[in-house]
Amino acid sequence: MSKSIKQDNKIRELRDTLGQFTTGVAIVTAPGEDARPIGMTINSFGSISLSPALVSWCIDLRAASHEAFVKARHFSITVLAAHQAELAMRFATRGADKFRDVETDGEAAPVIAGGCAWFKCNLVRTIQLGDHTMLVGEVSEFAQARVAPLIFSGGSFCQLPADCVDTDHHAARAA
Ligand SMILES: Cc1cc2nc3c(=O)[nH]c(=O)nc-3n(C[C@H](O)[C@H](O)[C@H](O)COP(=O)(O)O)c2cc1C
Repeated sequence: MSKSIKQDNKIRELRDTLGQFTTGVAIVTAPGEDARPIGMTINSFGSISLSPALVSWCIDLRAASHEAFVKARHFSITVLAAHQAELAMRFATRGADKFRDVETDGEAAPVIAGGCAWFKCNLVRTIQLGDHTMLVGEVSEFAQARVAPLIFSGGSFCQLPADCVDTDHHAARAA
C-alpha cells in the first residue's frame, strides 16, 4: 500500500472516530462577495466565552466559500431543528442552489427560519490551524425556540429520544 493511501485511510479513520462525538447541526451564513448570502452546514460550532460572548466554528481551507467567510465582517449561525435534515444536506452540497425557497430573515447574513436557536456575530478573529481556519465571533444578538434539535452522530442525522426533549428545562431550573 502506498504511503498516501495509508495516510488517506488514517484520515478517514480519524474522521469516523471523531464522528463518535455527537453534536448538533448548524447552518452558518455571511454576506457573499456579490452581495448574495453564502452558507454552509457545520457541526464545529462551539461556545468559547460567556462574557464577552464568544463563539467559534471551523471551515475547511478547501471550501468554495472559505475566502468569502474569512473576509466577511459578520456571520449568523442557525442551530437546526429536528425536521431540517434536508436543509443540512443541501447546505453541505457544493454548487447547490442553497437558499432556493428557504425562508430567512432577509438580512445580509441571514438567519434560517424554523431553527431551534440563532446567533448573530461580528467576526473578531480568524486563526488558520492545520487544514481549517477557526473563525471567532462576538455574539451581538441571539434567540432560541423550544423545538427539538437535529443531531449528528456517527455520520448520520438523527433525533433525540423523546425522554431527552425537555422543552421546559429553563422554567424548571428557574423555579
Ligand atoms: C453534519 C455536517 C457537518 C459539517 N461540518 C463542517 C464544518 O464544521 N466545517 C466545514 O468546513 N465543513 C463542514 N461540513 C461540510 C460542508 O458543509 C460542505 O463541505 C460544504 O459544501 C462546504 O461549502 P462550500 O459549498 O462553500 O464548499 C459539514 C457537513 C455536514 C453534513
